[in-house]
Amino acid sequence: MDLDTTTLLTALAALLSLFWLRSWSSSKSTIPALDGADGLIASYRSALRVLGHGAELVRRGYTQHRTGVYRMPMLLRWEYVANAPAHIAEIAAAPEDVLSFHLGAAETLQTEWTMGSEIAHNPYHALAVRGSLTRNLARCFPQVQDEIVHAFADVLALEDMEWKLIDVVPTLMQIVARTSNRLFVGLPLCRDKEYLDLNINYTVSVFTRGQIIRLFPEFLKPLVAPLLSSRKSSLRHALKFLGPLIDARLADERAHGPEWAERPNDLISWLLDLATGEERTTPALALRVLITNMAAIHTSSMAARVVESEGWSKAALGSMHRIDSFLRESQRLGGSGPLAMTRKVVARDGFTFADGTHIPHGAFLNTPGHVVNTEPDSYADPETFDGFRFSRLREAVNADADADADAAKEAGPNPNANPTFFNRQMVSTAPDHLVFGHGRHACPGRFFAATELKAMLAYLLLHYDVKAETPGVRPPDDAFAMFRVPNARGRIWVRKRADLNSEA
Ligand code: HEM
Ligand SMILES: *[C@@H]1O[C@H](CO)[C@@H](O)[C@H](O)[C@H]1NC(C)=O
Repeated sequence: MDLDTTTLLTALAALLSLFWLRSWSSSKSTIPALDGADGLIASYRSALRVLGHGAELVRRGYTQHRTGVYRMPMLLRWEYVANAPAHIAEIAAAPEDVLSFHLGAAETLQTEWTMGSEIAHNPYHALAVRGSLTRNLARCFPQVQDEIVHAFADVLALEDMEWKLIDVVPTLMQIVARTSNRLFVGLPLCRDKEYLDLNINYTVSVFTRGQIIRLFPEFLKPLVAPLLSSRKSSLRHALKFLGPLIDARLADERAHGPEWAERPNDLISWLLDLATGEERTTPALALRVLITNMAAIHTSSMAARVVESEGWSKAALGSMHRIDSFLRESQRLGGSGPLAMTRKVVARDGFTFADGTHIPHGAFLNTPGHVVNTEPDSYADPETFDGFRFSRLREAVNADADADADAAKEAGPNPNANPTFFNRQMVSTAPDHLVFGHGRHACPGRFFAATELKAMLAYLLLHYDVKAETPGVRPPDDAFAMFRVPNARGRIWVRKRADLNSEA
């Protein structure tokens, strides 16, 4: 579909939405509205402001309702936002039949239309990621590491000593897609440019087309969503590559059962360990591979974003602890949008927090992700990028632990002494660090993402010189409504390191 038709449809949807009554009226709720934007006209005026000023309005809601919950008007619904750490912890711990992660995501990403309703109703691929994929990381990582080497060389395609200006986001997407697929589907498919591109295109389309589909009232979606969604065409395209691979795997499973000597250790096998019934078909399994790619590519490509502008060097980032800290800090500042952890209230009587605050059935409950990640009570100088913020903390914790250990040695053996655990690592989630969400649905792919990104950054540092396009300047993020992503036109200079050049 060309852009003009899309624009036209969007305008039509926006117009319709102005007449579309939000399903449960605001007057039924005891929760205050942002800025008292309670009346019909006032709420729509605010909803329009959200389009250009989402982040700003969420910050204002945080200031106004620091310890409570408020409602933010959007075009098609009210978003409830819980600011207090205790509330956030309760959301993180709530079971799926009370606060639904999947129905929240189904609305935010329009899962039914962009991915298929089975993804929301039977998200077993998340279990494969949380379980087998994570368990096999150490064993499979040498291959991922090997792919990083080849991916950087092929994607950057640098001549010796040459400085080259590259587009950050598309380049990272290529490298992330390729290294991730070494783990997901292995060689040679992980190097097939067309296969990688279709996964990247699908990822982008879920996040962009989903937002357009979301603007339409439910009764129009069956008409317009198939025109906008690339689900069917992407799956058909993916089957060209994944079809033969999965067909062969299914045949092997039928012949040998779930355990056979040469069974590949990859995502297809991990999915097959859990898939039952209709999910054990080639198209159904291919869709899960596509969805896992979608979950991995967009997010991981955004994580290393601050790298593009901060002064850093191999010496400064000399240890894995520092790299971990640097990436966690990068994600803290850039990894969460204005709203995070969207949940739909599915309990029949609504959801009541421990302090009595009541959220009605059907409401969408969120946390102010970015605001929480930059809360001054949690972080000194919270808006400043400080790459070693967490590694300094870690060194202090370790120093304390050493002192404790010395004291313990003098006091005699203590079987109850806990080994010190540093809970500000890249993969650690907390009510004041929501990059991967928190609680029951915290991202199951984060152990892989962290391992992969750290290896990528370490490799980049060892083998390349990098500098910003304009020294000291980081291009502003692209933002729309509640979305914020790194500048799509951001570029950096890279070249092979001189010492490596001279070796060659
Ligand atoms: C830097 C990279 C990543 C970031 C920032 C990220 C972030 C997130 C967030 C915020 C959520 C929702 C959590 C919530 O609402 O409580 C999530 C869920 C999820 N992520 Fe990630 N993610 C990343 C990488 C990955 C990778 C590499 C994979 C797959 C290998 C993955 C697979 C998933 C899946 C399957 C879910 C749904 C979880 C469920 O159904 O319970 N993610 N991720
Ligand atoms: C991906 O999208 C780009 C830009 O729209 C297009 O040129 C390319 O052909 C697409 N590739 C695949 C494999 O879908």
